[in-house]
Amino acid sequence: MVNGAVFAGFLGPSHPTPLQLQKQLRFASFSNRNSNNVNSLRVASSASIAALELADIDWDNLRFGLMPTDYMYIMRCSQGEAFSKGQLQRFGNIELSPSAAVLNYGQGLFEGLKAYRKHDGNISLFRPEENGVRLRMGAERMCMPAPTVEQFVEAVKETVLANERWIPPPGKGSLYIRPLLMGSGAVLGLAPAPEYTFLIYVSPVGNYFKEGLAPINLIVETEMHRATPGGTGGVKTIGNYAAVLQAQSAARAKGFSDVLYLDSIDKKYLEEVSSCNIFVVKGNEISTPAIKGTILPGITRKSILDVARSQGFEVAERQVTVNELLEADEVFCTGTAVVVSPVGSITYLNKRVTYGSDGVGRVSQLLYSALTSLQMGLTEDKMGWIVELK
Ligand SMILES: Cc1ncc(COP(=O)(O)O)c(C=O)c1O
Repeated sequence: MVNGAVFAGFLGPSHPTPLQLQKQLRFASFSNRNSNNVNSLRVASSASIAALELADIDWDNLRFGLMPTDYMYIMRCSQGEAFSKGQLQRFGNIELSPSAAVLNYGQGLFEGLKAYRKHDGNISLFRPEENGVRLRMGAERMCMPAPTVEQFVEAVKETVLANERWIPPPGKGSLYIRPLLMGSGAVLGLAPAPEYTFLIYVSPVGNYFKEGLAPINLIVETEMHRATPGGTGGVKTIGNYAAVLQAQSAARAKGFSDVLYLDSIDKKYLEEVSSCNIFVVKGNEISTPAIKGTILPGITRKSILDVARSQGFEVAERQVTVNELLEADEVFCTGTAVVVSPVGSITYLNKRVTYGSDGVGRVSQLLYSALTSLQMGLTEDKMGWIVELK
């Protein structure tokens, strides 16, 4: 447990270092932009002080669960208008009409990305603009206005910096960032909401699967489907997740880590897992189901395809059959939350296939190391994927 640990370079609140002063200036400029709001001014100055020390929590045992932090970001706009100005607020409950479109008709989207604390004291984000672009695509499908990519990235940065003391020390985890976009205005008849809220909250997290990098066990779902052609499987809308809870709970009750879905027409092509994409390795080829509207276009998926290509693998985005899955050398999942998660076994129609002897497969290990080293700033970012906050 780190108890009020002070970072290298910080002398403490009474002796501001140049870095602290820089930080205070940055928050001062934030509050100037919102100078019509006294609350945001107060938030800004307390945030600059709060950022100096690590939160007093057990950093060695972080899990993937909500830990409330200091601030959240909120921005609102009416239907037909554009988002213009948001602000940081103390983290807490929000008020919604019982008739809010998000509560009644599921008009909502979310995103997920992470901030990392690097060994040099800097804080980095991984491809945040990609999340901003994906949110905009989803917003179009769900009839919602969305922040511009620039507004999105700026809001993410402000929220992370305001919650800086909650970013785990290097190697202990990351700060999970959860942007939400919802129809917050009241409707009774089915229609787009008259008002929208964009909100960001954060939580320090450790591994998503309790297995960590240890292989997970998946079951192929043959009855229920996550998405259908023409539906919303390709966007990160909230209803896609409630829809998988029944299959996921049943799988977990049987001891599986998660569920792998098949396409709803032929029931033989792989789609994805409840909250991550799937990859199959055979020889030097790494294949993953192509994006065609029913699979979420994962940012980790896209990054792993590039990393694998740069490491000399043949990479294919195509239809992958469940038979190929059962005959693969290695299988792994990718996602912001799971990073690269090796699959130890697949169960399909009561038949269980295992991969490798028991450890992490060579390719999964290699890609995991390549991606996480890049994200944590341990290797050079030749792709231009890292956004540094200081
Ligand atoms: C259904 C689903 N597929 C895939 C992913 C992976 O996407 P990303 O790599 O952008 O986190 C996620 C996670 O966000 C997801 O919810």
